[in-house]
Parts: sequence; C-alpha cells; structure tokens
Amino acid sequence: MKGREEERAGRQDQVRVEGLTYAYPDGTPALRGVDLTIARGESVALIGPNGAGKSTLLLHLNGILQGRGDVAVFGVSPSGRGMKTLRRKVGFVFQNPDDQLFLLRVGDDVAFGPQNIGLPAEEVAARVTRALVAVGMGGMAERAPHHLSTGQKKRVALATVLAMDPELLLLDEPSSGLDPRGRRAVIRILAALPLTKLIATHDLELVLELCPRSVLLDAGRVVADGPSRALLSDGALMEAHGLEVPGSMRG
Ligand SMILES: Nc1ncnc2c1ncn2[C@@H]1O[C@H](COP(=O)(O)OP(=O)(O)OP(=O)(O)O)[C@@H](O)[C@H]1O
Ligand SMILES: [Mg+2]
Repeated sequence: MKGREEERAGRQDQVRVEGLTYAYPDGTPALRGVDLTIARGESVALIGPNGAGKSTLLLHLNGILQGRGDVAVFGVSPSGRGMKTLRRKVGFVFQNPDDQLFLLRVGDDVAFGPQNIGLPAEEVAARVTRALVAVGMGGMAERAPHHLSTGQKKRVALATVLAMDPELLLLDEPSSGLDPRGRRAVIRILAALPLTKLIATHDLELVLELCPRSVLLDAGRVVADGPSRALLSDGALMEAHGLEVPGSMRG
C-alpha cells in the first residue's frame, strides 16, 4: 500500500477526486459523483450557486467530511491517518472565520499550527509576524480574535494558514466580507504565492485575476470545467447556473 501511495504522490496531481458522492446526516444530498483533478501549481476556481456543494467538496479535501468515492491529496487519503501527513502541506481557510479562530489572542491563533508541528519558538515567532504582516494585520497579535471585525477575522484566518507554509491552499470565499482594500490585499497575497490553489468563490472578478481554470458546480455535480475566460463569458452557461458574466467581461 505504501509503495502505491508513494507512487501516486510522485505524480503531478495534487488533488484527485473520483466519483465523490456525499449526503449530510439529515439526508440532504450535497455531492453527486464529482470528478476533479488538480495538477501541481494550478490555481483553480470552484464556482456555482449557493448550495451547489463547493464548501462540502473542500471539506472532503481536508478530511473533515468523508463521502463515497475516491479522494487523494498528494496521493494520500485525507481521512483517518492520512490527514496527519497532510497537515503541514495543506492550508484550509474556512468560509466562516469563526470556525478557524478559537484562541484568545490573534498571535496565538497564528502560532498554533507552527507550534503544533514542533517548530522552535523563534521560528514560530518569525512566522507569526511574517504571516500577520502579509495580511495587513501586523501589530494586531495581542488583539482578541472574537473582538475583530469579520474582514479582520478573515485576514487572520488566512494568516493562520500562511504561517504553515503550505503547498496547497484550499480557500472558501477568501474575499467575502472584505472591504475593497482588504480584498485587493488578499488578491495580491494570493497572486504572489506560487502554490496550488483551489478557491471556492462568488467573486468572479477575483477568479479572472487569480484562476486560469474554473470548475462550475451545481446541485453537487461538475457541470463545466475549463478556462475561466471561456466559462465566465458564456452568458447562457452562467445564467443557467445562477451566476452572471462578470462586469469586466460585459459590453
Ligand atoms: N451541515 C449541513 N447539514 C445538512 N445539509 C447541509 C449542511 N451543510 C450544507 N448542507 C447542504 O448541502 C448542500 C451543499 O452545501 P454547500 O455549503 O456545500 O454549498 P456551497 O456551494 O458552499 O454554497 P454557498 O455558495 O452558499 O457557500 C446544500 O444543499 C446545503 O443546504
Ligand atoms: Mg460554501
């Protein structure tokens, strides 16, 4: 088994999802046979209407949910023991920052991951400072996360992930709730990170800036997968799935 997993990890695909089907415990179907492959270095947008299954899919990639079908991230299954191996490599930013921040100081929340993998104190401190500065929250380390605004929380949530130096970033609505300056900052940060990214978002202008490829999900199925410019400029496709052609592509 180990040999096979290593062989799979050696391939260029960092994310491989095959036939993934999931219903929530109350019976709500959320994913109905999703196939998705993401190669190293790709930046992919996950788009689709409310309730399409975007967050549910991301939650399978970090092992929080487990459906039927095959999921491999860096060649290993994120469920069970697999996630321990992946924790250093995969950064996950939740849609709701309150799901990410749980300590009493911003600095402690950002330090939590690096401490957990046993990095020395000086390295942890350096990473905390670097990550907070990167998201425009330098000097906020002593603040209480639950007293921050939503946009500030989103930035700290991103910092907690950046501090881990991940190889793959899974981002659920990274720009929602941010003011224009904060949104630009996040786009700039993400654009500068040469990582593999999967970004679930309704911010289609962000998609055009950051993601050459888009995967359109609706009712738990992949209904389109291709170049973002082609998908997002297709008015009939966008409308059929509750979206609209972004302003910068109209006219
Ligand atoms: N905890 C839950 N229990 C039951 N059903 C859920 C739960 N979370 C989500 N769902 C349902 O699963 C489906 C997919 O939801 P999901 O949150 O993945 O959609 P989404 O594409 O992320 O939507 P949004 O754009 O609003 O973030 C929806 O029908 C939703 O109502
Ligand atoms: Mg969602």
